[in-house]
Amino acid sequence: MPTRMSDFAVARSAAREEIRRGLRGNPPAISPKFFYDRVGSDLFEQITRTPEYYLTAAEIGILETNLQEIAAGIGPHAVLAEIAAGSARKARILLGGLEAPAAYAPVDIAEEMLAGQAAAVRRDFPDLRVIPVAADFSADFAFPPFDFDHGRIAVFYAGSSLGNFEPEVASALLARLARAAGPGSRLLLGVDRKKDKATLDRAYNDPGGLNAAFNRNILNNVNRLADGDFDPARWIPHQFYDEEKGRIELWLESAVDQTVRVAGETLRFRAGDRIHTENSYKYDVDEVLALAAPGWLPLHHWSDPTEGFSVFLFAGRDTPPGGGAAATVE
Ligand code: AVI
Repeated sequence: MPTRMSDFAVARSAAREEIRRGLRGNPPAISPKFFYDRVGSDLFEQITRTPEYYLTAAEIGILETNLQEIAAGIGPHAVLAEIAAGSARKARILLGGLEAPAAYAPVDIAEEMLAGQAAAVRRDFPDLRVIPVAADFSADFAFPPFDFDHGRIAVFYAGSSLGNFEPEVASALLARLARAAGPGSRLLLGVDRKKDKATLDRAYNDPGGLNAAFNRNILNNVNRLADGDFDPARWIPHQFYDEEKGRIELWLESAVDQTVRVAGETLRFRAGDRIHTENSYKYDVDEVLALAAPGWLPLHHWSDPTEGFSVFLFAGRDTPPGGGAAATVE
């Protein structure tokens, strides 16, 4: 969590080194975490409002339709800890339905965005404690001490963002979240389901080109973070579903033979060479339960009418199944 100038310098040099290593790999790759500069975050927000990217509307529909059951499963006085909070659009729905929530704790690596969102949630819920946690949740992290009376910690991880990690990494991340959330905790997890290729390809290839712009914009952020001279116009964005691997893949294809200077390296690309920028895994219900199993016991899941997206409620493994308020939603 960079808080001093020297910390920023360390974070920046770590980003530069990560970019350098990724681009030197085979295939060359850029971590999807570098999508989210200001422009990238805004593009993603716009993607979530396109009709083709059904994920967001489906998840919001599930939360709204099943709010009472979900709230009963989480119980009173909870601390709602949202991972990768984004716009907090979905957390607002939950906060409106939970019984006397004790606090909202958005956790995100994008500190500036986090502060803005926390302020917006405070305006909408003036009696609620809002405790932004600027942290890299993909590393080992702990919640700050919540030194006020509260019920359980309910971790909320929405938007199928878990799918952007490789499955083993996703499973380990969920287990770490269980440890961080502690005794009696809950996990509310939104996951995009496996489905026909045409629907998935459409979701990531909207006719307005927002997904393509999002994919390509990563190069602008890489240029800033690692003193690069990528010309985004010379890269063709590709987004497609690989049915065998059960994942959307994002790549940038070099349109011409070109040389790029970045992170102190000189990289040569031939026309047709590709840089990998993201995977977005899609899961069946059983696969989600298996991923979560090391840290979490399943309590219930809800789906949209097309079974295209599901929201899962889990209890931390230290909690006896059927104990507490979650028994009411079985
Ligand atoms: C943030 N994440 C869940 C999005 C996804 O669908 O994997 C990121 C995204 N990539 C392309 N479009 C949206």
